[in-house]
Amino acid sequence: MFQRIGIIGAGTMGIGMAVDLVLHGLETVLVDVEEKHLQRATAEILQTVRFAPMLNNKYPRMAEDDVRSLLHTTTQLQDVEDCDYIVENVPENWSIKEPVYLRLDEICSEETIFGVNTSCISITKVGGITNRPDRVIGMHFMNPVYMKPSIEVIRGYFTSDETVTRAESFLAQLDKDAIIVKDQTGFVSNRISHLYMNEAAWVVMDGVANPKQVDDLFKKCFGHKMGPLETADLIGLDTVMHSLHVLFEEYQDTKFRCCPLLKKMVHAGECGRKSGKGFYTYAK
Ligand SMILES: NC(=O)c1ccc[n+]([C@@H]2O[C@H](COP(=O)([O-])OP(=O)(O)OC[C@H]3O[C@@H](n4cnc5c(N)ncnc54)[C@H](O)[C@@H]3O)[C@@H](O)[C@H]2O)c1
Repeated sequence: MFQRIGIIGAGTMGIGMAVDLVLHGLETVLVDVEEKHLQRATAEILQTVRFAPMLNNKYPRMAEDDVRSLLHTTTQLQDVEDCDYIVENVPENWSIKEPVYLRLDEICSEETIFGVNTSCISITKVGGITNRPDRVIGMHFMNPVYMKPSIEVIRGYFTSDETVTRAESFLAQLDKDAIIVKDQTGFVSNRISHLYMNEAAWVVMDGVANPKQVDDLFKKCFGHKMGPLETADLIGLDTVMHSLHVLFEEYQDTKFRCCPLLKKMVHAGECGRKSGKGFYTYAK
């Protein structure tokens, strides 16, 4: 059984991971670069844990002190040295991810597994810069983490069978199962879903329909739970844009060319739910 989990990055996914871990009684070390991000994250984690039993009665009611006793926040990466499993959630940008892995490889025990929570970046590429490529595995959690029963697990070129088994054990502790796929940029879910979110942005930019019409077509006609633009807002338009850049760079295929409207919104700070405005406006 895993006891103490290191979560690197306290943004959309890091917060979601910490909520899920705390709700399952696991000790969580949450790392970010600035104290203000950790304070915002802690407030959101406390609030989400408070509401979780109302959304799903399998979750326990937890007092704030109980949450705080499991959740440790820090700006020092060094503090994850005694964690038995790491899930990294820093932005979808190689220049940010690479130094994090180089440092984690120095800090963490040889046994520690690195779970890469990336949207698109190759797991083989991440494993290749560490001295433990067999213990690096893609863990593509879905948002919001505590509401999703399955995740996409990606086997890098060197990921060992034992690491896959241990990843499945970790997921079992969170009541999740794994859909295991091979490694190629964007894997399955995002190689497909980013085309659809990007094209939806092109449709809006071309003035064919407004965001609500686009999403309504997918929900009311195709029976999807969420439309492509609501999904993009939930993920974060900056993350969608970075992922499209990764896909375009890898495949050199113009089908992944990021819609200029998406770029403009990100440059204007309209990143979706997390910034309060994207294709829709949200109460903060
Ligand atoms: N948003 C989603 O729905 C989603 C789903 C699955 C996977 N992902 C992937 O998860 C990763 C994180 O995405 P996100 O949406 O949470 O991004 P985000 O921008 O919301 O959060 C990233 C966090 O990482 C922090 N950070 C930056 N550099 C750091 C460092 N060196 N050390 C520690 N923390 C650092 C930032 O301050 C920020 O709080 C990305 O690779 C993304 O592609 C995102």
